[in-house]
Amino acid sequence: MLRTVAPEAPLTGRINREFGKRAARFIAEQGVKQFIDLGSGIPTTPPSVHEAVRSVEPSARVVYVDHDPVVVAHSGALRSVEPGLITILADVREPGVILDHPDLKALINFDEPVGVTFFSVLDVVEDSYDPVGIAGRFAERMAPGSYLGISHTFPRPATRTR
Ligand SMILES: C[S@@+](CC[C@H](N)C(=O)[O-])C[C@H]1O[C@@H](n2cnc3c(N)ncnc32)[C@H](O)[C@@H]1O
Repeated sequence: MLRTVAPEAPLTGRINREFGKRAARFIAEQGVKQFIDLGSGIPTTPPSVHEAVRSVEPSARVVYVDHDPVVVAHSGALRSVEPGLITILADVREPGVILDHPDLKALINFDEPVGVTFFSVLDVVEDSYDPVGIAGRFAERMAPGSYLGISHTFPRPATRTR
């Protein structure tokens, strides 16, 4: 179905993953040691964000966030076996819930720079939920020296089916 309406999807998906890898690595190279990856997805082709940033900073801490219980089950099983990695079930449309999540607050120190990444997730958040405002809510909590990484895989259509 997706290939029918968007035949370019496999290519743009791969390009998005490559961008995410480079962006996460770049942020780590600036000295950032803690990351929140929103709309993290099922770990498929490595590297995931933690693998990209730990190739620069092995002690980097990463919180993965997704609203899909299947994604969180897979991610939790594959990623959360290592210290400094957790996956939480939450919706990016509720930034306050995420920012105040006790597991996230146990791993992320908002007094220090943090890399917050939205790779191919804000493009599926409807305008009525104010995706720019969502990114802004995270940016407000981020200390100086923090980085926001955003990618959009598809042009945003007028309506979405999910
Ligand atoms: C296209 S995938 C991108 C996965 C990964 N970030 C990447 O770049 O490969 C979008 C992911 O965002 C998640 N997602 C969509 N809407 C979300 C929302 N409102 N809150 C949290 N996650 C969401 C989906 O479950 C899916 O795992």
